[in-house]
Amino acid sequence: MNRPVLLCHGGAGSKKPLKAALSGLEKTLAKSFKLLDDGGSALDAVTSAIVHMENSGLYNAGKGANLQLDGIRRLDASIMEGNSLQAGAVIGLEGFANPILLSRLVMDMAHKVFTNLGAAKIAEAEKIARLGPPNERSLKRLDRAMAKGGPALELYRKYFSTVGAIALDSSGCLAAGSSTGGVFAMLPGRVGDTPLIGSGVYADNSLGAVACTGRGEDILRLCLAKEVCMNMKNRSAEDASYLSFKRALSLGFQAGILALDRKGRWSITHTTAHMPAGAASKEGVIVRDRFRRVE
Ligand code: GLY
Repeated sequence: MNRPVLLCHGGAGSKKPLKAALSGLEKTLAKSFKLLDDGGSALDAVTSAIVHMENSGLYNAGKGANLQLDGIRRLDASIMEGNSLQAGAVIGLEGFANPILLSRLVMDMAHKVFTNLGAAKIAEAEKIARLGPPNERSLKRLDRAMAKGGPALELYRKYFSTVGAIALDSSGCLAAGSSTGGVFAMLPGRVGDTPLIGSGVYADNSLGAVACTGRGEDILRLCLAKEVCMNMKNRSAEDASYLSFKRALSLGFQAGILALDRKGRWSITHTTAHMPAGAASKEGVIVRDRFRRVE
C-alpha cells in the first residue's frame, strides 16, 4: 500500500496571487484528496481537482480562461495515467467549460488528441457543460491590451495561471493533468505546452508524475514534463526538478512544476517569484504562494 498524495497548482508568475486563488487551492486539495483517501484512483483525483479549478473561475482555465486576441476563449487540457501510459488531450476547445473531462474521455478512444473540430462534437455528445459569455473584466482587459498594440512579451511575463494536478494513489498508480486558457492576449490559434503530452504533463509509474506551468513557448521546447520524469528514474522529485530547472534557467525559461516520484516524495519548484500551489496527504493540506525557487 502506498501513502496517497495529491498536488495542485494555480499557475506561476511575478505577481503575488490573490488570496482567493490560494483558498481555492485549499478547497480543491481537501475535496479531491478525500477521493484518494477513500481508495479512489490517482486519475479520478486529478480529474476532480482540475474540474474544481476550471469551475471556480479563479484561474486561467475553464470559466476563468483568458480570451485570445479575437475575443474567443480556446481551451487546452491534457491528462495521463502512469500504469497504462494512456493519455488524452484537447486543443483550442471553444464553448465548453471542462476540457479536462474531454481529455479524460479521449484517453479511452482510438485517437488521443483532438483539436476543436472533433473535440467540440464529442463535448456536445457527452453533454460537457457550456461556457457562458466572457465577463466584462476580461473584455476590458483585452481592450486595454489591444490599445497597447496587441500581444507583448511583457504581458506574458506577469502571470501564467494555468491549473495542474498530480497524484499517487494507494495502489501505487500515478496521474498528471493540466488545463489552461493559454497566455493573456495571445494570437488566435496559439498553443502552449498544456495539451502536449511530455511537455505540459507526463506520468509513468516507473518514473514519476509531472505537471508544468509557465510560458508554454519555453516549456514545450524542453519537453519539460517528460524530462523531469526521466530524471526521476534515479533521483528524488526534488533533485530531478532542480536538475531540469538549472538547464531551463540558463536558457531564460519561466516555468513552475509539480513533481511526484514513485515513492511519493514530492516537490514544487519554480523559476518565477510566485507559484500558488499545495499538497494534500494524510498529514493534512499545505498551500503557499511560493515554494522552491530556482534562480
Ligand atoms: N502554460 C500555459 C501556456 O503557455 O499556454
